[in-house]
Amino acid sequence: MLTWLYVPGAEVEAALRADIDVTISADWQLRQVLDAARSIGSPARVHLKVDTGLARNGAFGAAWSDLVRGAAAAAAEQAIEVVGVWSHFAYADAPDHPTVRQQQERFVEAVAELEREGVHPQLRHLANSAATLTNPSAHYDLVRPGLAVYGLSPTPDLASSADYGLREAMRLVARLSLVKDIPQGQGVSYGHSYLTDRDTRLGLVPLGYSDGIPRNASNAGPALLDGRRLTIAGRVCMDQFLLDLGPDATAEPGDEVVLFGAGALGEPTAEDWAAATGTISYEIITRVGARVPRYYVEGQG
Ligand SMILES: Cc1ncc(COP(=O)(O)O)c(C=O)c1O
Repeated sequence: MLTWLYVPGAEVEAALRADIDVTISADWQLRQVLDAARSIGSPARVHLKVDTGLARNGAFGAAWSDLVRGAAAAAAEQAIEVVGVWSHFAYADAPDHPTVRQQQERFVEAVAELEREGVHPQLRHLANSAATLTNPSAHYDLVRPGLAVYGLSPTPDLASSADYGLREAMRLVARLSLVKDIPQGQGVSYGHSYLTDRDTRLGLVPLGYSDGIPRNASNAGPALLDGRRLTIAGRVCMDQFLLDLGPDATAEPGDEVVLFGAGALGEPTAEDWAAATGTISYEIITRVGARVPRYYVEGQG
């Protein structure tokens, strides 16, 4: 396990005691890790992060050379063990983009710089899901797929999950909490942005934007109920939204509504939600709120 996003004063000592590897991207982090390692009396396992062109986390340019020298000195006195060196792509989802090759070249140079100082990390890692699936030359010693572990394509414009042999693993379901008859011409939910065009039945789904349903899924987000694809009717509220079930609906409170899943049973996918709300599937699957219970299902399918 590797930690990497922390601020001054973070509990580095506790991380080291828990056998968590710690990333170092800056001088102050090196100092903090050294203090923690000295106070527990054993070397810290660290991964040095080089910024090869994303301009986000990691040490860039001359700051990398400074970090290499500082880390080499600390490794020589056995205060740290440099087990890894890593970086992250800006354009992994566009495998032919010139920055992909440039970042890889910069990565190789950065590792060589470390090795010239006598530091030989066993774990060089650079690839996220897209690079794991499209760029074997970036695999080095380990890969860091995130989205692909959920069975989703990191490059939906280039290849689908199925094209990559992936199957969507996450499913978001709710149960209807109320079903009621509403006459034609009734505005639905805040602002009445949906107007019933006939006498109909509405179903209330107890999930809202505080549970991660994007508010801009109002009149746009898809769902599956009893084998039928429906679209959210009216505005998504904090804790609930509505579906127009139609006049002949036989649905009852307690019936299952599938917001997204693998798609095999006709349910929308996270990718469908991303398209409906103008975002990427990453955001759909990671924004599900803390009060939505998670069930981990093993050995199915
Ligand atoms: C540094 C780093 N590595 C790997 C990943 C995984 O990316 P993906 O979910 O595209 O596989 C991320 C995701 O944000 C990341 O920031």
